Amino acid sequence: MSSSVLGKGRTALVTGASRGIGPLIAAQIAREGGHVVLTGRSADDLKTVTAALTAAGADVSFIPADLTQPGAAEALVRDIEREHGGIDLLVNNAGGDPLREFHTMTMQENLRTLQLNLIAPLALSHAALPGMLGRGRGHIINISAMAGRVSFPYTEAYSAAKDGLIGFTRVLRGDYHARGVSASVLILGAIRGAGQGQRMLDESGMKASSFMAPAESVARAVTKAVKKDRAELVIVPGPGRLLRAIMDYLPALGPALNRAAGATTTMQRIIEQRKATADAAA
Ligand SMILES: NC(=O)c1ccc[n+]([C@@H]2O[C@H](COP(=O)([O-])OP(=O)(O)OC[C@H]3O[C@@H](n4cnc5c(N)ncnc54)[C@H](OP(=O)(O)O)[C@@H]3O)[C@@H](O)[C@H]2O)c1
Repeated sequence: MSSSVLGKGRTALVTGASRGIGPLIAAQIAREGGHVVLTGRSADDLKTVTAALTAAGADVSFIPADLTQPGAAEALVRDIEREHGGIDLLVNNAGGDPLREFHTMTMQENLRTLQLNLIAPLALSHAALPGMLGRGRGHIINISAMAGRVSFPYTEAYSAAKDGLIGFTRVLRGDYHARGVSASVLILGAIRGAGQGQRMLDESGMKASSFMAPAESVARAVTKAVKKDRAELVIVPGPGRLLRAIMDYLPALGPALNRAAGATTTMQRIIEQRKATADAAA
């Protein structure tokens, strides 16, 4: 069913496509044919990515948008429907976390994290669904994270959002699958090669560990989830779904592993480093 959302004559929207993993996802979808609309806040970065993908033979365009702004999701979907006739594949990839201690962030800052990682995907799905249902085809891919499962340090609001995204995707898939619109969630472990995980490695001077999956594997998982119509894919090296199930069964295991692997200490160091850089720049 869902493979019909890829290929010639189809349109995909990829959020968070200005940098990190998003451009790789956009490139992977574009290789199937069809048009890909990229979005993110930075028009300059979107222009650069669009030029590189176009030079590689992809059919892409971009629309800048700040998805934390009220009405931005609806306006984006409206613009794409007007320009391209509809959205067949929506990839809710934009996301991230400021990596600060929960109690030192204002509630406004925590709400912004929820808005970017949870509310924006809901709003985009809500705005795109009527068109998808009208055409009898559509697929929504939500990019979540293992953070919520393993209790990754200093990610309270981010974890709440990413776990929420898993529940949202399951219900969405259950409710609309029979009407031709599917949904899948990709649950990412730490990713190397591009994106926030790689930036942390670069900042801390650490090398990528064998527990990190390459960014390209996320892009490949997007088209796999569509073609095989998978409800959920876990992107970690090794038996990801088993790991996730064990983390659910043994909730104390994740924090213990993080402490043993030094993740808590490393995150504290990165928080301090970033604060020192910001203070020096102020
Ligand atoms: N990399 C990892 O290790 C990892 C692990 C688990 C999960 N994930 C998830 O994978 C997804 C991609 O992550 P990444 O590592 O590629 O992140 P990234 O390098 O930080 O890129 C984030 C993307 O989101 C966009 N974005 C940020 N704030 C936005 C806003 N207010 N409105 C619209 N767009 C916004 C950014 O573009 P602008 O700055 O131009 O707006 C950028 O394109 C995220 O959902 C992340 O949570 C990543």
